[in-house]
Parts: sequence; structure tokens; C-alpha cells
Amino acid sequence: MKITPLALTALLALGTTISYAAPASEIWTSQCAKCHGADGAGKTKIGAKLKLKDYTDATVQSAMSDEEISKAIKQGITVDGKEKMKAFSDIPDDDVKALTAYIRTFKK
Ligand code: HEC
Repeated sequence: MKITPLALTALLALGTTISYAAPASEIWTSQCAKCHGADGAGKTKIGAKLKLKDYTDATVQSAMSDEEISKAIKQGITVDGKEKMKAFSDIPDDDVKALTAYIRTFKK
């Protein structure tokens, strides 16, 4: 196969996406905070509409397991056939783990 400069650029771009691992706090800020809030309390405009749980609340925290948190991130949340939170299936497992731990730090 002849590698054209264009194909090479595409390959390099792909490589950067795959190997890029952002810290959990960065993923939270860029992808989650608009709904869940920077502090995880869900006190955003969208959060109020979607009736988001308050992750600073110790009771809310103890009601969800690490598995449930990871599952929500990987598979999203669907209620009555309606997608409430999309699946972030492109977030690598290691980052999902880090995000789960990060969500735990919201507890007051
Ligand atoms: C479009 C708004 C929206 C975005 C963006 C969003 N979520 Fe959600 N999320 C929801 C809704 C709605 C629920 C269901 C209600 C609830 O549990 O508060 C939810 C639930 C959750 C749960 C709860 C699981 C449980 O068992 O209670 C976790 C954990 C979660 N989201 C993490 C994340 C993470 C991490 C991100 C970013 C990668 C994210 N969310 C982005 C709307 C969103």
C-alpha cells in the first residue's frame, strides 16, 4: 500500500485520539458539567429540567455503586424508552474508572 500524505495525516490524527487520556476532572468539565454541574450537584438549567441527582449528597452517593456509575457512563441512562443521558461509550475503561472515582469526590 502506498501511504499518501493525506492518509498519513488521517492515521496520525486517529492515533492521537486513541492514545489521548484526559484527566477525569477535564472530562467532567468538558462533557458532564453542563448537566451535572461543575460540583456534581446537578444545579444547572438542564439539571433542573432532567431532575438530576445531587452527587454532593451522601445519601445519593451511598445509593449508587461504582458498577452503576460506570454502567451509566458507558451505556447512558434511558427512562421509559427515552434517552436521558447518552452513552459515553468512547471513553476508555481506565477513564471511566477515574471518572467514577472523581464523582465520589463530590460527596460533602
Ligand atoms: C444531557 C445531560 C447529561 C450529560 C451531558 C451527562 N449526564 Fe449523567 N445523567 C443525566 C441524567 C438525566 C441522569 C439520570 C438522573 C440522575 O441520575 O441524576 C444521569 C445520571 C448519571 C449518573 C447516575 C447513575 C446512577 O446510578 O444514579 C452518573 C454516574 C452520571 N450521570 C455520570 C455522568 C458523567 C460521568 C458524564 C460525562 C461523561 C455525564 N453523566 C454526562 C444527564 C447527563
